[in-house]
Amino acid sequence: MSNSLFNKHFLFFGGKGGVGKTTMAAATAIRAADLGHNTLLVSTDPAHSVSDSLDQHIGGDDYVKVNNVENLWAIELSTDQAMSTYSEMISQQDPTGAFSELLGDGDANSLSPPGTDETVAFIQLLEFIQNPEYDIVVFDTAPTGHTLKLLQLPELTQSWLFRLIKMRRRLGGLMSGFKSIIGGGSDLDEQDTFDKLEELRDQVEVARTHLSNNEETEFVAVTIPTVMAIWETERLIRALFEVAFPITRIYINQLQPENLDCTYCRNRYNDQLKNLEKIKDLYDEFNLHEIPSFEYEIRGIDRLRELATLLYGVQT
Ligand SMILES: Nc1ncnc2c1ncn2[C@@H]1O[C@H](COP(=O)(O)OP(=O)(O)OP(=O)(O)O)[C@@H](O)[C@H]1O
Ligand SMILES: [Mg+2]
Repeated sequence: MSNSLFNKHFLFFGGKGGVGKTTMAAATAIRAADLGHNTLLVSTDPAHSVSDSLDQHIGGDDYVKVNNVENLWAIELSTDQAMSTYSEMISQQDPTGAFSELLGDGDANSLSPPGTDETVAFIQLLEFIQNPEYDIVVFDTAPTGHTLKLLQLPELTQSWLFRLIKMRRRLGGLMSGFKSIIGGGSDLDEQDTFDKLEELRDQVEVARTHLSNNEETEFVAVTIPTVMAIWETERLIRALFEVAFPITRIYINQLQPENLDCTYCRNRYNDQLKNLEKIKDLYDEFNLHEIPSFEYEIRGIDRLRELATLLYGVQT
């Protein structure tokens, strides 16, 4: 199996709930680190199962060194704190709400930021995208819906920020006159937050460039051979194409072994074979990787390393 994943800088693992995203992301991050790359495993899923998978508490406060794996750090992002910083920045731009009002009925809505939760998560991602400390950043994402919103955000956030900045420029003079009457904060603060918005817009632009560059970034779709998972994979892949996010690999997880002695197993096996054929038909241009269902839960560093060996070969 090709190791070219490890030439990339940003690896995203996504797919339907419960298919094995966290497990694949963790095993891949461990292999990246074992190969000598400074690696960061980031969870953007509020459910935060990275701690469970690595069998070590990680949390969202800071990067945590992963025990027994050199070169590997992890963090579980929490949106709560970033959310308040972001809301603060927005309200500093328009402390009295008067600015939105001045824009009139129709335009006032255009000032609402796109999905605040996802925006905050995206702004947090920017930090990792610009952090030169790590050679490889592996993102364990939330189930498909959330992740798609997140990936569409650069575009949405950018156009929203552009609009806000344009309006702000146009109405700036009017705004400070208005504020001196009603007694708002100092103009200096206002300029500061305005600069921050412009900076953010530029960061979003930079992030878009990195994320759509297939030499730097790759999204791995994780799926299982069931009809419902195939549908969801299809939606995911289409959406990734739309936002020009590089994707060439699909990990097909939890394949059952053939077992003729048990009717349940035989039926499951036959179902999976059919679905596997469907996946091969649909995605004949992709790198497809089949991963068997292990006899035990894949958890903890040793078992994740076993999975890494299966995925990427014996480490030399
Ligand atoms: N090939 C496999 N063999 C055995 N167990 C597996 C395999 N792949 C994943 N698992 C187990 O399945 C469970 C779900 O995996 P995981 O948490 O990685 O899924 P997920 O897609 O991240 O789920 P969620 O959508 O809830 O975040 C875990 O207990 C994991 O250890
Ligand atoms: Mg998970």
